[in-house]
Amino acid sequence: MSEVLDQAARRRTFAIISHPDAGKTTLTEKCLLYGGALSAGAGAVKARDGRRSATSDWMELEQQRGISITSTVLQFPYRDCVLNLLDTPGHRDFSEDTYRVLAAADAAIMVLDSAKGIEPQTLKLFEVCRDRGLPLLTFLNKWDRPGREPLELIDQIESEIGVSPTPMTWPVGISGDFRGVIERGSNQFIRFERTARGSTMAPEELVDADRAAEEEGEWWEKAVEELELLDAVGANHERDNFLAGVSSPLYVGSALTNFGVRHLLDAVVDLVPSPSPIEDEDGNPRALDAPFSGMVFKVQANMDKAHRDRIAYLRVCSGEFKRGMVVTHDRTGKPFATKYAHTVFGRERETVEVAYPGDVIGLVNATDVRIGDTLWVDDPITLPRVPAFAPEHFSVIRVTDTAKFKQFRSGIAQLDEEGVVQVLRDRQLGDQAPMLAAVGPMQFEVAKHRLENEFGAPVELSPAKFSVARETDEGSEAELRAMSGVDVLFRADGTRLALFETPFWLERIEREHPDLVLNRLIAEG
Ligand code: G4P
Repeated sequence: MSEVLDQAARRRTFAIISHPDAGKTTLTEKCLLYGGALSAGAGAVKARDGRRSATSDWMELEQQRGISITSTVLQFPYRDCVLNLLDTPGHRDFSEDTYRVLAAADAAIMVLDSAKGIEPQTLKLFEVCRDRGLPLLTFLNKWDRPGREPLELIDQIESEIGVSPTPMTWPVGISGDFRGVIERGSNQFIRFERTARGSTMAPEELVDADRAAEEEGEWWEKAVEELELLDAVGANHERDNFLAGVSSPLYVGSALTNFGVRHLLDAVVDLVPSPSPIEDEDGNPRALDAPFSGMVFKVQANMDKAHRDRIAYLRVCSGEFKRGMVVTHDRTGKPFATKYAHTVFGRERETVEVAYPGDVIGLVNATDVRIGDTLWVDDPITLPRVPAFAPEHFSVIRVTDTAKFKQFRSGIAQLDEEGVVQVLRDRQLGDQAPMLAAVGPMQFEVAKHRLENEFGAPVELSPAKFSVARETDEGSEAELRAMSGVDVLFRADGTRLALFETPFWLERIEREHPDLVLNRLIAEG
């Protein structure tokens, strides 16, 4: 096997998604602990005083709020594999950024707080995984403390997301006294032991069924009965269903005490597919061992005050990346020297020398490179564009100090390119008072904060009355413009968006004017 194929087969590229407080940060930290990439206590993902620190958070706004808005990537070894964990923003609004990160992942782990189950604000995120057919592992976290009945949680996942959980491990013990798990299939009992502050791996003891029945008593019986029930309803893992995003292998555990973390990481290695050949915009696959190609899924400027620059994150799709190689930027046809290529481990940057399919690299000062762009060597390829999301929130933005208009204008263009928000313009009004469009209102706050702090342009936002958008064409534009409660604005890429005040109004227009072109945008609720 060639080096590239061999290396690609060792890669597992995945993201963790959850609602805030379900334990994503803690679990990320424990993944690093089990991967040997984090020694106990040192450089923890979370600072000791409870405020977020090193790994994911960089912006002041994030620190003030204690939330994670931007995402980074963590690479660590586990067994004989190389795991690429793409961090997703953890705030409650579903954001486009998360979606784009998911576009670069081969699977996601959905972390749920066992006491809360699925929370409505993040439902959409899970639905997006299902809609995209992204393989999904489920981790029921916080089993060390009182929570809901596991069977009830399974029902909820099935009915609310429409993905069938297939339990791979099952908890033994009462709420608050989590003893261990039964490994479904082998029917072995793995008993966990706590360690001080969960700072080292949880010791595991393999206990046979007879001894488990004797020592764990009624909690063992309860778990066995529940498993019989699951067998009866056929909640079994089938690889094809998992890969199609129809079913989700489910693991129980506690990120705090490390219980079940090992099983979850083993599942990443054993179940998550390694990178497969990507298709170009015409559906032609590019072999993994073809010359280098990569897809930009995220652009981030001014990540760190010490380095005022712009990083384009790229997932390697084929071939071997070697630092210093000159690649072609597909959209502009220009050569791009990759002298400054980094892996970004939280805040820390390390120069990357070589990368393989599934790996993520950060190209520093990639001025012209935008989200969705393709970079290649030797053999040209254009990858399908990362689609923009259907916005649901709209706000007009103005600079409040007219002397700062220039800064405002370049700031808006920058945020648009980074995909922080979508910027919609009226052809006549241009940049005077553009409309910002977002999937979640948090995107507006980030835009305002960055315009004021990075670009020195004070702004005010006034919410607009629209709530739904459709893509339209030139032929329909005039008729739509003449209607009340409708506006037509342009994205920088030339896309025409028709905005409507309410979904009911839109429905009525669609009914009464079937001739109008009103195409749905992706991921509408
Ligand atoms: P997030 O990134 O998804 O927002 O969640 P995070 O890991 O920050 O966890 C949120 C809170 O839940 C933290 O408590 C964390 O310690 C706790 N937690 C995470 N996993 C578990 C678990 O398995 N069991 C229990 N009992 N708690 C868990 P905190 O009080 O906000 O912070 P801290 O002071 O404990 O660090």
